[in-house]
Amino acid sequence: MKNKIVLGVTGGIAAYKAADIARRIMELGCAVQVVMTKNAEAFIGPLTFEALTGNKVLRAGLPAPGEDSMPHITLQREACIVLVAPATANIIGKFANGIADDSLSTFLLACNAQVIMAPAMNTMMYENKAVQKNIATLKERGVIIVGPAVGMLACGDEGAGKLSPVEDIVTAVEEALKIKRDFANLNVIVTAGGTREPVDAVRFIGNSSSGKMGFSVAEALKRRGAKVTLIAGATEVKPPDDIKIVNVKTAEEMRLETMSCFDNADILIMAAAVGDYRVMEAENRKVKKSGQWNITLVENPDILMEVSKRKRGQIVIGFAAETENTLENGKEKLLKKNMDMIVINDVSRKDTGFASDYNEITILTRAGELTRHGKALKSELAEIILDNAVKLLKNGKNEKDKKRA
Ligand code: PMT
Repeated sequence: MKNKIVLGVTGGIAAYKAADIARRIMELGCAVQVVMTKNAEAFIGPLTFEALTGNKVLRAGLPAPGEDSMPHITLQREACIVLVAPATANIIGKFANGIADDSLSTFLLACNAQVIMAPAMNTMMYENKAVQKNIATLKERGVIIVGPAVGMLACGDEGAGKLSPVEDIVTAVEEALKIKRDFANLNVIVTAGGTREPVDAVRFIGNSSSGKMGFSVAEALKRRGAKVTLIAGATEVKPPDDIKIVNVKTAEEMRLETMSCFDNADILIMAAAVGDYRVMEAENRKVKKSGQWNITLVENPDILMEVSKRKRGQIVIGFAAETENTLENGKEKLLKKNMDMIVINDVSRKDTGFASDYNEITILTRAGELTRHGKALKSELAEIILDNAVKLLKNGKNEKDKKRA
């Protein structure tokens, strides 16, 4: 089946160029479905697009009797990429602020596919603080903005605001087609960072997890379309933008937050370094220095162990931080904690593991598949971890399909 690109056309003088854009995208081997605003129709007729694409244009008004009553929902299921070209200040503002009052703006809100926008407007409008803020908001949410170009505008002014060249817009679509969206609409919990168990009012037992590994996984998931909840303990680096973050301190807090989200999740990825022990009776004042201090530690509940008892089709992925017998110990954790997959890393090394930008991992699945991945950036390894998780998802889906047949 061909990739379906939804081309949103809004009311600007550059709307006529959308016909060429549609044709060029079809030359990439994609199907094109055009959605037009009412104002766009003042510049170019729907018939042009229908003749070019072979698909009926989705227009601004309500569906006629007998037509699909919820075209914006049907289309969002099929859309692989959404390109809005030209994108007026109006559609940019609506999308940035969650306004849905016609087919295109409603569809944009309902759709989880990668959105690309090619702004085109008068320079003063483009430079207006409100428009700039809206564009910044959209960029932060992962929308790809192409242009605008600088040049002579239809109104006679010269400056930024011209629709980018068609080639640049089509190249952006081509690049976006390479971005995987295989986690679209999935709820994924990621834990990251280290927990801190209080000893007294100012001291704690912690570990050197920086959060980098978990954050990289969360960012990759977000890019690939997942709805991510990031449960973060103590971390050293800035958390990713535009991801729902729940901050926790202790293992118990992480346990409570994870359990409260788990039933609605499709996948859990536990990259956090959870403290195995806590102080039996932490002092709530600062303990004065007076010779030897004996502290009794008690075991923390194991989050993965608890989760595995509540599993109802979710994929559970854990990490194993090992310093010796890495494969054997990792395999034991995979089975004991009833995970679907474990990512084993050797944390005795200084150049990988804790706090480093790099890691070296072995991935082991419950079905016994083992793959080793040499030293690489955590961001690169996060993609590999997700590629493996996708295989588990597909296997799980195939099993369910078999049972239903
Ligand atoms: O944060 P960085 O600096 O980037 O470092 C990344 C990392 C080294 C912390 C990460 O790659 C990693 O290995 N995370 C898991 C650390 C850990 O707690 O491993 P473990 O072998 O002790 O535990 C096995 C699994 O059980 C882990 O998924 C852990 O999250 C989970 N666990 C552990 C204890 C506990 N009480 N409950 C748990 O669920």
